[in-house]
Amino acid sequence: MKYFHFIGLFLVFIFFVKKPTASTNIQNQASGAKVKLGKKLFFDPILSADTSISCASCHQPQFAFADNKAFSVGVEGRVGERNTPSVMNMASRDFFFHDGRALSLEEQAIIPIENPAEMNLSFEEAVQRLRESEVYAALFETIYQAAPNKENITDALAMFQRSLESDGSAPHDLWMMDIDLTALTASQQRGRLIFIGDEFKCFECHFGPDFTGDEFRNIGFYDGGELLDKGRYEVTKDSSDIGKFKVPGLRNVALTAPYMHNGMLETLEEVVDYYSNPYDFVKNPINMDSLMVEPLNFTNQQKEDLVNFLHSLTDKNIPYSDEM
Ligand code: HEC
Ligand code: HEC
Repeated sequence: MKYFHFIGLFLVFIFFVKKPTASTNIQNQASGAKVKLGKKLFFDPILSADTSISCASCHQPQFAFADNKAFSVGVEGRVGERNTPSVMNMASRDFFFHDGRALSLEEQAIIPIENPAEMNLSFEEAVQRLRESEVYAALFETIYQAAPNKENITDALAMFQRSLESDGSAPHDLWMMDIDLTALTASQQRGRLIFIGDEFKCFECHFGPDFTGDEFRNIGFYDGGELLDKGRYEVTKDSSDIGKFKVPGLRNVALTAPYMHNGMLETLEEVVDYYSNPYDFVKNPINMDSLMVEPLNFTNQQKEDLVNFLHSLTDKNIPYSDEM
């Protein structure tokens, strides 16, 4: 990521702005029906054992398709072990889940349906239920010319989620694209400079149009005592991966509290306090990234500016949030 330091602000501009994805009308029409079907599935509790929980129970539009709990609740009140991430801006991701154990949205979609703490339904049974539903059988026949099956169910869910891209309506985008030079306050502009600056390194990990390099890093949330989630290590069994988690994108982050894979930081203020001095929260982190080792010790003004900057990443238009 070092090359970002040499190419300077001009390229930062290019990499850092969310461009609306250009697609032709024909493609839109073909995919539109699949997106609509995927949306119906995403919001339908039919995919859970006792038909009480849908994907949207945990991925709620008003929280940018995350929720506001440290750990979400699945069927029969069962509580999960990780914080629910936003499923907006997934189209360009290389890995899914905090540990990156799924490599595509299609592969990912089966896991929550079968997870005993989430929807607790075997995928075969989910397929069967959709085949027995006249409404779904007809929709799949029209759109995929086939009965519901693993490929078309996961395709529709993935297509819907890929449609949930930020649309460039966040104050940060309006300002970066010169559409509205008043969109960022002076404090947000200062916060942005801290964020992208060499001194504080946020941008080393949170870069690109969605503020993530799709990598796994350890920012100090594994201590072998109270904090025992080994993250990426569970997938690779490589000891250098202990305590690494997927760098999350930061679009709409102001809507997705609480934060981190375990929801342990409740507000953006707390997140910035954490980056200011991680040891105030975790005394003896194991395998922490070298960028995190020296506390940054922000001034109160810098903390405020960074928090305000993070608020500027909130889209004006969150898909479907006014329908709910
Ligand atoms: C009970 C709550 C719950 C339900 C129901 C649920 N999810 Fe999730 N979702 C989570 C949690 C928690 C994670 C993170 C788990 C992890 O990293 O191990 C997650 C992760 C994801 C991710 C990965 C996001 C990323 O940033 O990597 C996607 C995509 C996703 N869910 C889609 C779905 C879909 C599609 C459904 C319905 C078929 C669904 N979820 C149902 C809680 C839920
Ligand atoms: C060494 C890489 C790295 C650096 C540097 C870094 N981050 Fe992060 N950031 C991460 C990782 C990894 C996570 C997720 C950790 C987890 O899930 O436990 C994260 C999570 C976050 C979150 C919470 C997102 C969420 O949805 O839970 C925010 C906000 C954030 N970072 C902002 C910043 C800011 C501001 C800075 C600079 C002061 C910064 N980051 C520097 C890697 C980094």
